[in-house]
Amino acid sequence: MRTQVGIIGAGPAGLLLGRLLSLNGIENVILERRSAAYVLSRVRAGVLERGTVEALEEADCAERLRREALVHHGLQIVFDNRYLRIDLQALTGSSVVVYGQTEITRDLMAARESEGSPTFYEAEATKIVDPESDRPKIIFRHADRDQTLECDFVAGCDGFHGISRTAIPPSVLRTYERAYPFGWLGVLADVKPCSDELIYASHPRGFALASMRSPTRSRYYIQCPLDIQLDQWPDERFWEELKERLGPDVAAHVTTGPSIEKSLAPIRSFVAEPMRYGRMFLAGDAAHIVPPTGAKGLNLAAGDVRILARALIAYYKQGLTDLLDAYSTQCLTHVWRAERFSWWMTSFLHTLPEADPFARKLQEAEFAYLARSKAAQTALAENYVGVRH
Ligand code: APR
Ligand code: PHB
Repeated sequence: MRTQVGIIGAGPAGLLLGRLLSLNGIENVILERRSAAYVLSRVRAGVLERGTVEALEEADCAERLRREALVHHGLQIVFDNRYLRIDLQALTGSSVVVYGQTEITRDLMAARESEGSPTFYEAEATKIVDPESDRPKIIFRHADRDQTLECDFVAGCDGFHGISRTAIPPSVLRTYERAYPFGWLGVLADVKPCSDELIYASHPRGFALASMRSPTRSRYYIQCPLDIQLDQWPDERFWEELKERLGPDVAAHVTTGPSIEKSLAPIRSFVAEPMRYGRMFLAGDAAHIVPPTGAKGLNLAAGDVRILARALIAYYKQGLTDLLDAYSTQCLTHVWRAERFSWWMTSFLHTLPEADPFARKLQEAEFAYLARSKAAQTALAENYVGVRH
């Protein structure tokens, strides 16, 4: 089997890349180890920067988003029951859009289906051969057979647990990592959100986040130890802990109800450099992971893909290689900016298990400065909406 661009992974990065390439007449094949149903079952964040919305518009996949997405002009921070609204629109001239990642994946899958480009589900890539040659190959297992996809380029969009990074020799690959000593326990429930805007709460018992998917579907998280057992967290216990951490004023607006999804996610920062090796390019979670506190994961993936798509289009349409050569450096500038912001938001708002009194006093000082400084609020707002300098 042969194509121009072999894409490993049908998450947001792989699907968006495939769509942008197909719209520009560039043949591509997506290999996805899971079923389409499994990919769609994953519940992930959904705060979109303007650049991500633009990418979906370029992909001609933003029609439902424009109809159903919620535009947010601000966010709220609750620190030990003290409230602060960050006016994103007034401070940056930009807002963010709330639209679940599952819906983006659904829209991209539907677009790919209608364009007829080949996607092999339950097809696991097992090896990338000769990535540094001009004829790289992807070995994959599908329908109980080992098969080979010959291509001009390989896009490693296979997430944190994918194989693409292993195609970069250890002598070349550099990784940077920080694992946090806590996770997020997330609940999805078909209840009215407690607020029109997202609320990030820091409480001595731990962090909490009030988010949403629609006017009738809420998404909540509480910081928790990494070793919790989900069966020790019945809905009632989750709702009580959440309300405690959000504070009485917000808690009064929390509508509880049966969870339709409950899961524990580890919190980590991770970057792999370089994001290119020969004709293999990493994009999205395959190259970087951010703590979800800054809502950057999906936006970074979309940013990588926009840059990679432009570079591949310039190669195929004009024979240019300069954008391909600049890919890794350009993406990593954005990646590290998001890593720093996500680390800062996480350190500011989470209660470290071994938190000494000094650490909490620093967080209180951070909040006090944010509450009185327009410059500090602007810095947070610019990073949250994704203003690029
Ligand atoms: N072969 C084929 N597919 C694979 C392989 C493999 N060896 N390994 C992983 N995959 C698939 C996974 O099943 C998954 O569907 O690659 C896909 C990677 O998708 P994501 O993990 O969603 O990563 P990405 O597309 O970069 O999207 C990043 O997803 O995890 C969130 O917070 C993250 O919002 C961010 C977004
Ligand atoms: C979510 O809605 O899942 C969400 C929103 C904002 C975040 C993280 C997750 O920072």
